[in-house]
Amino acid sequence: MSVFVVSKSPALSGNVKISGAKNGALPILAASILTDEECVISSVPPLKDVFVMIDILKKLGADIDYDEKKEKVTVCCKNIGTWEEDSDDASKLRASFIIMGPLLARMKKARIPLPGGCQIGSRPVDLHLKGFQAMGATIEQKMGFISAKTKKLIGDTIYLDFPSVGATENIMMAAALASGVTVIENAAAEPEICDLAKFLCKMGAKVTGAGTDTIKIEGSEKLKGAKHKVIPDRIEAGTFMVASAITGGDIILENVISEHLKPVTAKLAESNVLIEELEGNKMRVAANEKLKPINIKTMPFPGFPTDMQSQFMSLSAVISGTSIITETVFENRFIYAGELRRMGADIKIDSRSAVIEGVKKLTGTQVRATDLRGGAALILSALAAEGETEISDIYHIERGYCNIEKKFESLGAFIKKI
Ligand code: UD1
Repeated sequence: MSVFVVSKSPALSGNVKISGAKNGALPILAASILTDEECVISSVPPLKDVFVMIDILKKLGADIDYDEKKEKVTVCCKNIGTWEEDSDDASKLRASFIIMGPLLARMKKARIPLPGGCQIGSRPVDLHLKGFQAMGATIEQKMGFISAKTKKLIGDTIYLDFPSVGATENIMMAAALASGVTVIENAAAEPEICDLAKFLCKMGAKVTGAGTDTIKIEGSEKLKGAKHKVIPDRIEAGTFMVASAITGGDIILENVISEHLKPVTAKLAESNVLIEELEGNKMRVAANEKLKPINIKTMPFPGFPTDMQSQFMSLSAVISGTSIITETVFENRFIYAGELRRMGADIKIDSRSAVIEGVKKLTGTQVRATDLRGGAALILSALAAEGETEISDIYHIERGYCNIEKKFESLGAFIKKI
């Protein structure tokens, strides 16, 4: 089993190129099921989660080629011959549930293993199913599987109790081949939703309102193949921004969309980090001044992203004063905090809020990545901690960050994968 060994690092400097968004690429790959024509998707990051999704599509019968060097997927779902996804892959990738909408729309039935809970929360799929049911699908849950079938999906108005990203995506994709108009109310507004809507429109779908809380989809009889470049990963970008802040660094991010990073840049700026937008989708992040404590509450977009919560916890742990972080999206997303405490962080958790008293120094030790973003937070803390930190279970981190150690090394960090 590989581990990351990280030593206290100097102020990071240099340029780092941000990859395409994992959470953008996954639903777009799933959307290729909606057409029997070829789709070409670029800026697809070579990550574990992406490989699992490619495998799932392959097993469904898709003709799919991934050029890792060019980060380009060419996929044709003409010969999809099954509506059942019964491999282990679904348990490896919770996000694989987003193939249910396109599969149901294209094949009129779908059977997928019920995604289990995970470290950060129970993560139910009731809102996805509520959407399919409203569109006329019959749902059955049996022996750990969810089956859905329909004669024809028919558009309806669907109100989501919570603006779930996955449910919004799944319903949008199903609606794209339904008859009539589907309206999703209280829809998620994340940039990845807008990117999926763009891809669907290129396929010939009629989607409006993406990026607002009401999305309207006019169903089409048939969709065509399309070419698309996935948006940059705002969470990877945010992680490197915090890395610059925690090491007192001065770095330039390449391939970023500043609009997508607003909630993160606003909080870093409040804390005294210098953020400078540069020409050509670049951004400078410099921490030359004493940083101020942080107060954040995670919320659906355009609120502060839950996927950046743990990285900000690492930063708060070394800022003098009291910071407060409240998690409202997932019920169990402070699980990694125990590992930060082992490095000397002073974190008190009361239900959904964490109170962090900044300490003078963290100390390297052996820690374990408990989940993807919590694992990234451990790297950030390790960059600032005295001595050496050994991080195990790094497969969690590699699900969502490609070549993370190489990218950090290129900025001057002392990190090795062993
Ligand atoms: C996506 C992202 C994940 C991010 C999350 C929130 C992908 C592949 N993953 O996950 O990185 O942390 O958005 O920004 O894009 N919920 C229900 N019922 C449902 C669906 C969701 O109660 O049917 C709840 C969840 O338990 C959670 C909240 O809604 O508490 C948000 O979940 P959701 O937005 O669906 O997250 P994902 O799409 O799973």
